[in-house]
Amino acid sequence: MMLHAFTLLAAAAVARAETADKVPRAAPSGTAAWAAAHSSAAAALAKMSQQDKVNIVTGIGWDKGPCVGNTAAISSINYPQLCLQDGPLGIRFGTGITAFTPGIQAASTWDIDLIRQRGEYLGAEAKGTGVHVLLGPVAGALGKIPHGGRNWEGFGVDPYLAGIAMAETIEGIQSAGVQACAKHYIVNEQELNRETLSSNVDDRSMHELYLWPFADAVHSNVASVMCSYNKINGSWACENDHTQNGLLKKELGFQGYVVSDWNAQHTTNGAANNGMDMTMPGSDYNGRNVLWGPQLNSAVNSNQVSKTRLDDMAKRILAAWYLLGQNAGYPAINIGANVQGNHKENVRAVARDGIVLLKNDGAVLPLKKPSKIALVGSAAVVNPQGMNSCVDKGCNTGALGMGWGSGSVNYPYFVAPYDALKTRAQADGTTLSLQSSDSTSGVSGVASGADVAIVVITADSGEGYITVDGNVGDRQNLDPWHNGNQLVQAVAAANKNTIVVVHSTGPIVLETILATAGVKAVVWAGLPSQENGNALVDILYGLTSPSGKLVYSIAKRAEDYGTAVIKGDDTFKEGLFVDYRHFDNAKIEPRYEFGFGLSYTNFTYTALKITPTAAATAGPATGATIPGGPADLWETIATVTAVITNSGAVTGAEVPQLYLTLPSAAPSTPPKQLRGFAKLKLEPGASGTATFNLRRRDLSYWDTGRQQWVVPAGAFGVAVGASSRDVRLTGSLEI
Ligand SMILES: *[C@@H]1O[C@H](CO)[C@@H](O)[C@H](O)[C@H]1NC(C)=O
Ligand SMILES: *[C@@H]1O[C@H](CO)[C@@H](O)[C@H](O)[C@H]1NC(C)=O
Repeated sequence: MMLHAFTLLAAAAVARAETADKVPRAAPSGTAAWAAAHSSAAAALAKMSQQDKVNIVTGIGWDKGPCVGNTAAISSINYPQLCLQDGPLGIRFGTGITAFTPGIQAASTWDIDLIRQRGEYLGAEAKGTGVHVLLGPVAGALGKIPHGGRNWEGFGVDPYLAGIAMAETIEGIQSAGVQACAKHYIVNEQELNRETLSSNVDDRSMHELYLWPFADAVHSNVASVMCSYNKINGSWACENDHTQNGLLKKELGFQGYVVSDWNAQHTTNGAANNGMDMTMPGSDYNGRNVLWGPQLNSAVNSNQVSKTRLDDMAKRILAAWYLLGQNAGYPAINIGANVQGNHKENVRAVARDGIVLLKNDGAVLPLKKPSKIALVGSAAVVNPQGMNSCVDKGCNTGALGMGWGSGSVNYPYFVAPYDALKTRAQADGTTLSLQSSDSTSGVSGVASGADVAIVVITADSGEGYITVDGNVGDRQNLDPWHNGNQLVQAVAAANKNTIVVVHSTGPIVLETILATAGVKAVVWAGLPSQENGNALVDILYGLTSPSGKLVYSIAKRAEDYGTAVIKGDDTFKEGLFVDYRHFDNAKIEPRYEFGFGLSYTNFTYTALKITPTAAATAGPATGATIPGGPADLWETIATVTAVITNSGAVTGAEVPQLYLTLPSAAPSTPPKQLRGFAKLKLEPGASGTATFNLRRRDLSYWDTGRQQWVVPAGAFGVAVGASSRDVRLTGSLEI
């Protein structure tokens, strides 16, 4: 984020209706671009045999091609062997690639320019390796269960923030000419039994929480959507007529194709007739059982699947290819290509600006050339077996940069806390002593006598096909790993200036650590990928003031979340009351609330101004369907501004957040919901204006009776503040 850019950033932060400015390819709404792509697709389709059509919708089988997913080339239309590759933070199995920060870290920056650039660079690396379809970004899991194994791949637990991040990432990826794939669709919230459980979610929660970020994805013209492993109301996600045909294709007007998660298809006809358009990888993992291919051919020949449906599948896939301009001059597949460019700069910026400062007693941070630093923890150094030694990052050994599973990638290099601190200490003439284990015995020898002791702890999670320390993807509990609490206690017993650094895939309960005398600071460093140590040093030394904010709440007790990993089917009994929506509603005080984060400077909030437009009327959205839903749902109907001033002594960035309280005409709605944010970088004494553009959807709730988004009549509470609880300005918007 640039110094000069604060007004632009503020204006852009919520102006989703104006994305056309950024993505000329799809201007103004995507409708015209998709229409052109579909007409090219129809012309190509006319030249294809039925066998060609079956080939374009069926993967060639597990482990049969250069990518994790491949279809056959179709020479009659110059269609290539399509390459689909994981994943959401870079090119899986690449050897010359950047290991981008996980989505959760990108979201923690609340910086749409960095999120956008991350997407552009992801797209550039996909294109450079010849990948046609990059399998990301992720909005499911949304993260309703704090233990959820794959939450870190997505953008945090708030659908509004996740939606903005989905849009920026997709537009970034697709601006490089690469097809993005929004996944996993939908309500795939845990790893345990993910291939058998049914997520039985009510219609309103589906719309207001889980579908919301996918609507942003469709609005940003995402090329493809991946259906998930789980069932919804008893029907497999990849054969669910309501979610695929009803919600996605009809209600959201999705023009691209639905691709199965790998082996998430269960039947030939059910998938075809209920909205799935491409099967991956095309066989089971033994390369034997095939559900489309010849089976689809017979199903079409016997009219169990209509020719029209097969045409529709093929046409959607072709249209996505044309939409991205992949029909001309696309690079050959070369997963090993060196495509890193300067992309590590984005990794470092996101890793740094996604760090959340939770506690800083007596201004122990930033560090001021201490004469002696102690550094403790196995997570302070690179995995001694090698930074990429664990398959798909399926271990928690050494410094942590990402979770495990198919959403992980190789590191090109890895800067651990020790590496970066050593460089800085040498420059400052600071003595740095290290204990690179989690042993509590003998730690006092290292920690005592140092000006500060930095202890690095972790919590990890990932995809359920790998078990790490007994965690089958999902975390078993919300405690730090490797006896982190005891390690912190041992260090703090020896050093009264203990700084706890946490690298984690999600929230951990910090009560033991916070109750430990001597713990002066807690630095929530998240998942910083390859720039782990550099980002940390940037923050510890105040080269940049911390500006990250939590994208989930940190509770005092795991039970306080009201959600947990479920053994049987999940009835989603918490409804809309997830994370801060639940803490607010149940009047439970979290330890650190959603949106919280300290800085080395201070900000004051003044001059709240609320300006409705003429379109600010109560009632349903009734516009024509564009990608993302009714066109009027995406129109700005009110603008809110506030002036933010840096009243402290150093340059810093603030994330003012806007939360809305709906009038009582909207039944049983969470007390407040995020509906705007901005990020302003301000020098000491400087002021900037945060502008929040509220779209019709931001003021609406899903009316299950009418099956429409409705703006309720009455007074909307407007709260602008530094977190979901640190409200600085309040006002009201009468509609
Ligand atoms: C699931 O069932 C609930 C309760 O009947 C209903 O509200 C919801 O719309 C259904 N969702 C899907 C995706 O079928
Ligand atoms: C900034 O806020 C901190 C508390 O967060 C306080 O200790 C400090 O005095 C404030 N500084 C200024 C300049 O207002």
